[in-house]
Amino acid sequence: MTPSFSHAFIFDLDGVITDTARLHLAAWHGLARRLGLPFDPAMEARLRGLSRMDSLDLILGDAASRFSTERKQALADHKNAAYVESLGDMSAADLLPGALAALQAVRDGGWGLALASASMNAHTVLQRLGIAPLFHHVVDVAAIARGKPAPDIFLAAAQALGVPPAHCVGIEDAAAGIAAVRSAGMFALGIGDPLALPEADRVLPGLDAFRPTDFLH
Ligand code: BG6
Ligand code: MG
Repeated sequence: MTPSFSHAFIFDLDGVITDTARLHLAAWHGLARRLGLPFDPAMEARLRGLSRMDSLDLILGDAASRFSTERKQALADHKNAAYVESLGDMSAADLLPGALAALQAVRDGGWGLALASASMNAHTVLQRLGIAPLFHHVVDVAAIARGKPAPDIFLAAAQALGVPPAHCVGIEDAAAGIAAVRSAGMFALGIGDPLALPEADRVLPGLDAFRPTDFLH
């Protein structure tokens, strides 16, 4: 039976719950350097939230046509190996401030709680952080047709929880993620710098300032 909640909170993972956005960016930067491709500061904001292959296409830019599908896959695998290595001995100590309390507050309030991460490493990261059992639903990104900024992953989360999008809050650190939340018809809560997330309905500096009741509408 599909569970049903009055409202739901749908969290992104990388850069919201733990500081892995930084590790993804470092691994992409390393790959760009190895290929002799430019990696200007604006690239960081543009890469956030994009799927692995969409990120690679952005890094390769005009050079993309020079790479075969097999070579692209090998480059993506190389970046992923570097990223996974950089996770090191990740544990609950790597939760960002306020993240655990935020997730628990949603559970304690009786609202739906889902994860909408574009990362194929999300299950590993959730396990290592020790928070996997808190989620009512974790979207399987492999089953999602279009990556962020398309709304698909957030709509899949809302459907699994049985909550209409208008009663969902999407929580994101990436401009592509905020666009996905808005396009899904949900309230978009940005985490980070308001200047970097102009499309968000509201922005908090971190989850330590998050109170679920501020967003019930
Ligand atoms: C997102 C990150 O959560 O997951 C992106 O913000 C990353 O930076 C994407 O590219 C895909 O992650 P993965 O682990 O499948 O390569
Ligand atoms: Mg993110």
